[in-house]
Parts: sequence; structure tokens; C-alpha cells
Amino acid sequence: MLRFLFLWKCSLSACTGIRKPLLLEAYYKIINYFSAMKRVLLAGATGYLGKYLLTELYNQGYSTRALVRNPAKLPLNEKLYSSVYKAEITKPETLRGCCEGIDIVISTIGITNQKDGLTYMDVDYQGNANLLKEAKQSGVKKFMYVSVLNGEKLRHLKICEAKEKFVDELEASGIEYCIVRPNGFFSDMTEIFTMAQKGRVYLFGNGNLKANPIHGADLAEVCVDAINCTDEVIEAGGPEILSQEEIALKAFVALEKKPKITYIPHWIRKSILIALRTFSSSKTYGPVEFFMTVLSMDMIAPVYGKYKIGDFFKEFSKVNQY
Ligand SMILES: NC(=O)c1ccc[n+]([C@@H]2O[C@H](COP(=O)([O-])OP(=O)(O)OC[C@H]3O[C@@H](n4cnc5c(N)ncnc54)[C@H](OP(=O)(O)O)[C@@H]3O)[C@@H](O)[C@H]2O)c1
Repeated sequence: MLRFLFLWKCSLSACTGIRKPLLLEAYYKIINYFSAMKRVLLAGATGYLGKYLLTELYNQGYSTRALVRNPAKLPLNEKLYSSVYKAEITKPETLRGCCEGIDIVISTIGITNQKDGLTYMDVDYQGNANLLKEAKQSGVKKFMYVSVLNGEKLRHLKICEAKEKFVDELEASGIEYCIVRPNGFFSDMTEIFTMAQKGRVYLFGNGNLKANPIHGADLAEVCVDAINCTDEVIEAGGPEILSQEEIALKAFVALEKKPKITYIPHWIRKSILIALRTFSSSKTYGPVEFFMTVLSMDMIAPVYGKYKIGDFFKEFSKVNQY
């Protein structure tokens, strides 16, 4: 029944017209009536994806407990969450009881730009493992974890080593699970936008490698829809598959600037990586090695959503924030 409803919703997403909002509202009402999983613990609610998840969960009628370490970073609209649980995921004692009365845990927790002195192993692996233990003890029905696209093939990178170690643990845990593997977020595309703003974008190779980055709102919809699916792994990218050069050109168009792109040969990228690995700590080279690696390969995931990067850049150029 739930599967049928989900397929019906997917076909609705493809159609347009005045009745679509009414039909979508009917979908959410039916899915919530039948769904046994209604109480969600969202870990990482203050992050880029987390904030979109709060809205999507609210729109689909879920009751959300936000697990955060700094409640002041939550959206001002308190309607979006039913309660707040303050915890530092690397400290198991702060998590005690956080999953009581919860049906599903969604964790988006991971290090992106945080500079807390913690490692990927501390947070992406051990922190999420602490939360999983708590979820199991409280009888949570399902655990959803946001990893990265191609993470299983990129285990040699520090970030993926930690994330995939947690994926292994989740798969072996016996709890129902879903691993979401998203492509790069629009929030990360602001790096290209910022270079364009400064006048020149630097790309590795000839700029022909392709990707389909995804907006947080589109990915949040994928995650919340997955609550009632039995899929154990979902790869997700945005609706447009573009070369890195095309993405850079869209940033220049949004800024109404003449495009200037410099192409850096891959041997320079490899040399920078070797130097960083040799002379800096994993906390420094970890994020750099991830971005330099994914920029040297096609990153294409199954297509979802409606948000386009050119429109995002135009909005971003007006408000200069995501
Ligand atoms: N950004 C991308 O392009 C991309 C692509 C694919 C996959 N992903 C993965 O998707 C997930 C979400 O990404 P995002 O861009 O939404 O990240 P984000 O904005 O940095 O959000 C991460 C969340 O994790 C929380 N967190 C980090 N360390 C914590 C700790 N020690 N204790 C408790 N909470 C902690 C952060 O809390 P604070 O707000 O307090 O820091 C924040 O709420 C991450 O795991 C990321 O690796 C990201």
C-alpha cells in the first residue's frame, strides 16, 4: 500500500497544474494515516541539509525531535520541531535517552566545515555509532544515515573511511536502515560562485567532468519519502547533469560577469595532494583531498528534484547566502 502511494507521489511530482498541490496534500494525509513511523529524531538539525529536513518533515506531518549541540542555531520557526535535545554526539553520556519514544532516527551529522579539533573518525564514525547504540537500546524502528555518493569506492579518503566504517556497522546492526548517498550539495557549489565573484574560476583538467549537484530541499524530500520505502541504499543527485565548466559559466551568468576560467592540469592537483598529505595533519588535508578527488571524476547520481543551479546562483548573488 505504502509503496503504491509512493509511486503515485512520484508520478505527481512529474505533473504540473492547479490540482497538484491539492493532490500532494492528500498524499501526505494518507501516508501519515497509514504510516506507523511518525516520531523522528533528526540529528544534525542545524546543518544545511538538516534545516531543509526540518521543513520537509513538518510538511509531511512528522513530529520531530531536533538533536543539536547549539539550539541557538535552530530556525526561529519553532513550529518545525516538537522538542529539542541538546547533545554532543561524540560524548555518549549526553545522548542518553535521546531516542526514547522515537520511531526513526535520521542522521546528517558529519564534519564539513567545522573546526572543533575533532576528526572524521570521532564524529562521522564514532559519533554516529554512539547514536546507533542509543537508537537500538530505545527500540527505534529505522535508522537513516546520510553518507556520500561513491563513498564505498572512495574509502581511501579520510572522510569516506570514517563514513563507510559507520555504514558497515549500520548494515550489520540488525535495525532497519536506509543509507542515502547524495551528490554534492548546492551549498558546496558556492565555492565555484565565490571564485567567479572574485573574477576567475579555477578548474582541474579540461572542465568536461560532469556532476548533478542537488539542492537541500530536493534531497530532504528524497530522505523523508524514504522513511516509508524499503530501499536500503538511495543514491540521489539533482535534475541537471552538467560539466564543471557549465556550472562555472552559470555562476558568471548569475553575476553578469564575463567568464574567465583557468584550467589546471591534473598533475598539479596530484602534486598538491601529495604535498598536503606529507606536510599537514589529516584535519587539514581531509576536506581538501575529498574535494580534489571528487573534482577529478564524473559524479552522476540518479536524478531527483526540481531546483536548478543557475537559479540558485541568481538567488545567491542577491542575498549572498544559501
Ligand atoms: N555538503 C555536501 O556537498 C555533501 C555532499 C554529500 C554528502 N554530504 C554529507 O551530508 C551530511 C550533511 O551535510 P551538510 O552540508 O548538511 O553538513 P553541515 O551543514 O555541516 O551540518 C552538519 C551537522 O552535523 C552537526 N555536527 C557536526 N559535528 C557534530 C558533533 N560533534 N556533535 C553534534 N553535532 C555535530 C552540525 O552541528 P553544528 O551546526 O553545531 O556544527 C550540523 O548540524 C554530512 O554528513 C556530509 O558529509 C555533504
